[in-house]
Amino acid sequence: MADGAPVMTFDALAARAQFPILSRQVNGKPLVYLDNAASSQKPRAVIDAMAGAMSGSYANVHRGLHTLANETTEAYEGARRSVARFLNAGEDEIVFTKGGTEAINLVASSIGQSIGEGDEIVVSQMEHHSNVVPWHLLRERRGAVLRFARVLDDGALDMDHLASLIGPRTRVVSITQMSNVLGTINPVAEIAGLAHAVGAVMVVDGCQGAVHLPVDLKALDCDFYVCTGHKLYGPTGIGVLYGKAEALSALPPYQGGGEMIESVTEDTVRYAEPPRRFEAGTPPILEAIGLGAAIEWLSAFDRAAVEAHETALYQRAFEALRGHDWFRPLGTAPDKGAILAFTVDGAHAHDIAQILDRYGVAVRAGQHCAEPLMSRFGLTSSIRASFALYNTFEDVDIFVDALGKARTFFQ
Ligand code: ALA
Repeated sequence: MADGAPVMTFDALAARAQFPILSRQVNGKPLVYLDNAASSQKPRAVIDAMAGAMSGSYANVHRGLHTLANETTEAYEGARRSVARFLNAGEDEIVFTKGGTEAINLVASSIGQSIGEGDEIVVSQMEHHSNVVPWHLLRERRGAVLRFARVLDDGALDMDHLASLIGPRTRVVSITQMSNVLGTINPVAEIAGLAHAVGAVMVVDGCQGAVHLPVDLKALDCDFYVCTGHKLYGPTGIGVLYGKAEALSALPPYQGGGEMIESVTEDTVRYAEPPRRFEAGTPPILEAIGLGAAIEWLSAFDRAAVEAHETALYQRAFEALRGHDWFRPLGTAPDKGAILAFTVDGAHAHDIAQILDRYGVAVRAGQHCAEPLMSRFGLTSSIRASFALYNTFEDVDIFVDALGKARTFFQ
């Protein structure tokens, strides 16, 4: 290594030690938590930030003139600044929602007000239901046409097919940055270019991507980007909608209520500028503070080293299992993150997950809120082990060993 070159370091054990829950036992065994794509565990920094707000300084935000209101407003807006830095976005481009699902619903519902009969919305077969159903609502309510870009056999997005679907009637292209099942990482900047070439709006579902990949929204150049707190080592009940300043300004409100207006009379209403226009009512204050703490905590690590660690976990599991004739991986695209979905010949995914639980290993089994994808592969369910920065090689080995034992029940 050349003198002065940055050293990539990440100490997974030290990071792990900051998660109180990871030292507990499940069914008499040490917990091996591999359900991170569903929801990750919380470090002490997040727990302390939320408890500290409740016990030290709490009031409603943006409304009060007293000290606690000012302190809490500063903490809430500080969280917005943390998110903006994390995503390389402007502060006013960050809207807090109650989750990733609400963020996509906000965009779909607000854009939907100008969607007409025959307008086209392009998604892919690998989208989570949260990036499918809000667009189905526009199909049902506004006569929009929903088009699904195909997924190739290895789990990569069929870019030729996607490009062929984007045309003069396309109003929205909404694609995941990283599949919650396949782990596939999509070229969303390139897709944004295709969308913009026909004047369509580009929405990126970053619920998995923001956890595993460094995100630079200036470089990505999408119009909207969505992520959620509880997968990012933060609390539930908080999500983020990024909207490019001009895209947010053009968007009508989603919900009405306090704090999202400039003025209201009996006959008129004038809406506030973004982001307040989209934060009607008392926002998720404590959750935003928790998310801010999670992001500051995560940002202190060398993200490239974290990504390398997570990839190494995935590869260790995949290499240990690939030789078994009963193991059928789902998603082996060249560009993929640390998610391992698979089926086991002769065994139902739910049965395998329940047996793994007896060994203290938590995985998800089912459709993973991605029924169109499951249908594409002719499946009704699969097992999913998804890795986080606090997982270790020992976790992987326990999982692989337990899976081998679970499999013997079905021979
Ligand atoms: N979106 C979450 C998952 O993939 C719930 O499991």
